[in-house]
Amino acid sequence: MHLATQMNGQGLESGSWRWPGENPQGFIDVRSFVDAASIAEEGKFDAFFLTDFPAATDMSKTGPMTSLDPVLTLGVVSQHTKTIGLVGTRATTFNAPYSIAREFRSLDLMSHGRAGWNLVTSGAPVVLLNYLDHVPSSPERHARSREVWEAVVRLWGSFPDDALLLDVESGQFADMKAITSIDYHGRYVSSRGPLALPPSPQGMPVVFTAGMSENSLRFAVDHADSYFNYAPTLGHARRYWSVLRKALMQKGRAPDSVTVFSGVVTSVASTTREALERREALDRLGDLDSLRLQLGTLLGGSLHDIDFDSPIPASTLSQFHQVPNDPRAEQARALARKGANIREIVAHGFLSLHPVAWGTPEQVADYLETWFRAGTGGGFMIEPDSGLSGLRDFVDQVVPILQKRGLFRTEYTSNTLRGHLGLPYRNGLT
Ligand SMILES: Cc1cc2nc3c(=O)[nH]c(=O)nc-3n(C[C@H](O)[C@H](O)[C@H](O)COP(=O)(O)O)c2cc1C
Repeated sequence: MHLATQMNGQGLESGSWRWPGENPQGFIDVRSFVDAASIAEEGKFDAFFLTDFPAATDMSKTGPMTSLDPVLTLGVVSQHTKTIGLVGTRATTFNAPYSIAREFRSLDLMSHGRAGWNLVTSGAPVVLLNYLDHVPSSPERHARSREVWEAVVRLWGSFPDDALLLDVESGQFADMKAITSIDYHGRYVSSRGPLALPPSPQGMPVVFTAGMSENSLRFAVDHADSYFNYAPTLGHARRYWSVLRKALMQKGRAPDSVTVFSGVVTSVASTTREALERREALDRLGDLDSLRLQLGTLLGGSLHDIDFDSPIPASTLSQFHQVPNDPRAEQARALARKGANIREIVAHGFLSLHPVAWGTPEQVADYLETWFRAGTGGGFMIEPDSGLSGLRDFVDQVVPILQKRGLFRTEYTSNTLRGHLGLPYRNGLT
């Protein structure tokens, strides 16, 4: 099993910034990122992962979707950690290949071979319009993305392993015959190269990607080392992995050469009841009205006049329309029929983007083991509910169970991110 954690200096749930003991300004406090990565490293995680959403959204109640720049932040984190992989997101739609190649190679050198680049096309207009005067279509973003990927990887490979000579005796610093231009001219981007920085101990950074479209899956099949996935249920995750597996084999790639990290929110407590109470407490700190609105949408009707603490009347439920093809809607409806109130239904986690594993440490470990054994691509992106304290609970209470069951490493066996993921040294296109 491979584990990474995603947390932009604080928890990602809408109430996490107010959770007792959490730092409300974690998103702009580099110390919070260092602390989170250090806890994850204690837990022998493969990687500490930062998404990127460079735009101001409505943060009046729920906290920001954005945070400090990921690559700059990971540069600092690299100096306070030793072994854990450090993955940062950079979108291809509005960044130049030379900038991406240089930034991630710098991070890879600073961290001695622990860097990963999460390549995203970024479909959000609120982000895109901060850089561009229009919103490119998905096919256009992906066409550009492939060019950016190729130019970046060629740039990384343009400085080969043996070109830095550092021969003090003879006075030969580098072999300039080996460091060659790439002369890349695509439809969308160009770069002459070469890059002026040598490879790290792992060669070049690991390439992650995250997306939901067919184009994004195709990119993963062709070029990615790891995939950050959104799968609302085990069924979705299994289907997704089986499609990806088959496509990888058709392409002639070993299926286990790509690790899928399925996003999962974790809520750990001493008992099942306490875990639900913990989630209810977290929801109370967030935007409950917005959660009620979302639950209404999931159930197929409006709940605006229903009290948070009263059961949803059967007469109201019977007027709702069925939301097809969403197993989470069916589970939520079943709870409502049993008399659960809005707070209790929401606490089960049906509204989170990523599914929620809640319960005792054993139950959370069971959840991960079930998914892992069912074949979902080998990895999990852990999103601890409250933030750093939730990560601490996961590392102290769930990781030892996974280790005892022989599912997760007890010690690091490598110092590079490629090593953690079982990938060989690589620098450049081949
Ligand atoms: C799990 C996951 C994580 C993502 N993380 C980011 C991110 O950090 N920044 C970003 O701009 N977009 C992110 N995206 C959005 C994708 O880049 C992409 O725009 C979106 O999935 C639309 O898909 P398409 O571009 O393939 O049509 C993420 C998507 C998924 C599924």
